[in-house]
Order: sequence, then structure tokens, then C-alpha cells
Amino acid sequence: MEKIVALCKRRGFIFQSSEIYGGLASTYDYGHYGVLLKSNVKGEWWRAVVQERDDMVALDAAILMHPRTWEASGHVQSFTDPLVQCMGECKKRWRADHISTEGGYARCPECGGGLSEAREFNLMFETFMGPVREDAARIFLRPETAQGIFVNFKNVLQFARRKPPFGIAQVGKAFRNEITPGNFIFRTREFEQMEIEFFVPPAEAPEWHRRWMDDRMRWYTDLGIRPDHLQLRAHGEDELSHYSAGTSDIEYLFPMGWSELEGIANRTDYDLRRHAEFSGEDLSYFDTATGERYVPYVIEPSAGADRGTLAFMVDAFDEEEVAGRKRTVLRLHPRLAPVKVAVLPLVSRDGMPEKARAIYEELRRVIPAEFDEGGSIGKRYRRQDEIGTPWGVTIDGQTMEDDTVTLRDRDSLEQVRVAAGALAEELLRRLNSEWRSPKLAG
Ligand code: GAP
Repeated sequence: MEKIVALCKRRGFIFQSSEIYGGLASTYDYGHYGVLLKSNVKGEWWRAVVQERDDMVALDAAILMHPRTWEASGHVQSFTDPLVQCMGECKKRWRADHISTEGGYARCPECGGGLSEAREFNLMFETFMGPVREDAARIFLRPETAQGIFVNFKNVLQFARRKPPFGIAQVGKAFRNEITPGNFIFRTREFEQMEIEFFVPPAEAPEWHRRWMDDRMRWYTDLGIRPDHLQLRAHGEDELSHYSAGTSDIEYLFPMGWSELEGIANRTDYDLRRHAEFSGEDLSYFDTATGERYVPYVIEPSAGADRGTLAFMVDAFDEEEVAGRKRTVLRLHPRLAPVKVAVLPLVSRDGMPEKARAIYEELRRVIPAEFDEGGSIGKRYRRQDEIGTPWGVTIDGQTMEDDTVTLRDRDSLEQVRVAAGALAEELLRRLNSEWRSPKLAG
């Protein structure tokens, strides 16, 4: 993980937030390449769950919601973690369920001191709406994007003219006052979720749950995650959220061990029933074909955009020796790579920079490209390898004679000559063709 954090800082993917003030704990800012990478992760998610399906629609609900939402959803009462405090030297606070009780009883993981009794700590961030700080004005930053979907169920039913089975997809920020954030962007207090609420006739819920688990596992492997670094794990009874009749987590083998990447829950009709009860609105569905009225069950694949971005980086990270030199390379799926092609003049003379710039201007209209003329060619390639750029184009002496360029592949290091006029087409062909992680070979 230290290597990933260092690479993120060195290449401007992700920085500590408010760094000039000493930083704000477990809060991060995304720089240029980080923004592009996370945006590609979200883009691929939208493509898979909305564009390539005809049973899904998109939504972007507000972060601030009516406070009754969180009473109905159960978050005011149940969205808690058990908090213990060290009674010894360090006085640190911990999540009781994250502390090992090996050897009989729990001790502070930092200083070994005794621990207080556990008390339930609500993870929602509170704030006040309007100028008066009174109870009536108290609202919450949403701890999940899901509730914005449930309260819009009726709108979508009417205006998107949908009938179950259908789903609503949303990407957005969520906030949790986590007791122990950590592991870089794995667990933070502000993060982005990519959530689907898929509404189905109750009898079909188990089948849709299974289908979504398969679909979501495939999404990660299609984007290059090694299958043996992914697993599905069903929650035990004691782990289930207050709304869930069954949840399976997609776990990834992060550097700190197997950890949740995405949860896929059968939320039953819990949320729609509760919102119907608290709002007085009828949130049932009348099926004109069968004459049956029912409250749909919900299958919820809920992923983290930051956690996903971290997993894609961890899985792509590689170090190898090439011609006696160490090379660090992010073997990202080309569709996730922040920059798809780097255009590099071999040297800064003989008309090569001008020719390279002209090629770059052409390419960037059709594919994310970067122009780089500073430093030795080897250094520039190392920089592009580290940010995961899958292809490099070198403009050299031969280009000036026959208008061909060298096209270099990040993973195989194979170099071929391509006519400058055919570059865009060749790059788009490569981008849209099947890609397999080179880590899977052998
Ligand atoms: N609506 C259901 C829900 O929110 P969750 O398992 O609590 O379920 C879903 O969260 C996903 O959101 C997680 O699998 C993870 O990827 C991401 N996530 C949750 N808490 C997070 C945090 N503190 N920091 C980063 N990502 C988080």
C-alpha cells in the first residue's frame, strides 16, 4: 500500500487533503490523473449498468434530504458502530468489532491499555439547514446514496414509465463519521458510491440477487482484475444490516487482506414500506397484466468508486526489470487508463517536436492523449508507464522521411511502425478490442 500511496503522490493522482495546513485526517484530494482514473471507473460502471441494459435508468438525487428520510430508513436508530475508548495511556477510540479478543479479552491495539464498555455511536454527520441552529433545522449528510433512489421510486415509475423488474442507478458522494477510517482511500469519511436499487416482484428476488452477483463480479474481471484476487462472501446473520434479508460482499485481496469492495444485498420491501409509512404515499406497484398489487423487493449492488479505484490500481501495480533497469508500471485496462496515448518526439530538434505536436493535436480530438517533450525518451516512457498509459507514439528521424511513427505497447513493450495517418484508427481499434491483463498470462 505504501508503494501505491507514494505513486499517487509522485504522479499527482491523489493527495492528502488540506496539506498546507498539515492535512485533514483520512481525507484525500484527487489530482489530474486521479480524477481521470476515477471518472473512467464511474464511466465504465454507467456503461455496464445503464447503457448496455434496457432495464435501468439514471438518477442524481440531492445529498441533503428531508430528515424524516433517515428516520424511515432506520439510520437514525440503527446506523451505529460500537465504540470503545482506551482507558490506558493513548485514550484512542476504536470500533469494538474490529478489535481482536484473542487470548480472552480485548486490549487497546495501540498501547495495550484496557478498554471502556462499548457504546453505540451514530455514523451520520449532522448539520443545520438555514440560519437557526435548532433541532427542527437539523439535517444529515447522506450516509448512502440509496435513499435518494427510494424516495424517487414513484417519480421514476411514472415519468420513466417503468415496471418491475427495473432498476435505478446513481453515483454520488456519501458521508460517514467512521470511527477508524484508514488504509488510504479504502475507508474515508467522505467517499463516492455507485449504487443500484433494482425493483423486482418479491418471488423473483432470489434469482435477481444471484444474477446481479454474477454481473458485478464479471464487471471487475472484464476490467482486468485478476479473478483469484476476487471472492464473494455471504454475510453471517450477525453481520446483516438492519434492512437486509441476505447480503454477499464482493471482496478484493487488498494489501491489508480480503476486504469489501461492493455489497450486494436483498433489501426486501423494507425501504419502500418504511417510506410509504412515514410519508403517507402509496409506494406499491399495480401490475395491470396480472391484476396483482405488491410492494417490490429490492436487490442492491452497492459499490464504492474510491474503493474500486484503489482496487484497480493495486491490481494493476507492477514492478519489473527491463534491460537492467527497474520499471514501475500500472497495467490498467486501457479503458480505465487516464491517458490512452503519449506522443513523444525522440529529440527536441530536426522538426520532431513540431511534427509530434501536430500528431498530438489530431489524436486528442478522438482519444485522451498527452504530449511530452521534456527529458530523455526513457524517462518520459517511465513516467507514462507509471500513470498507466497503454500506448506511446514516438516521432523519430524516419517519421520525417516517410511519415510513419513507432507505436509502443506498455505491457509487451512491442514496437511497431504505423503510418501517422492510420494512428487514430489503430488506437481506437486497440481500445475497443478485448483486453486481458498481462498478469494472467502464465
Ligand atoms: N446502500 C448500501 C450501502 O451503503 P455499504 O456496504 O455500507 O452499503 C457500500 O457501502 C459500498 O460503499 C462499500 O462496499 C464500499 O465500497 C463503499 N464504502 C462504504 N463505506 C465507505 C467508506 N467509509 N469509505 C470508502 N468507501 C466506503
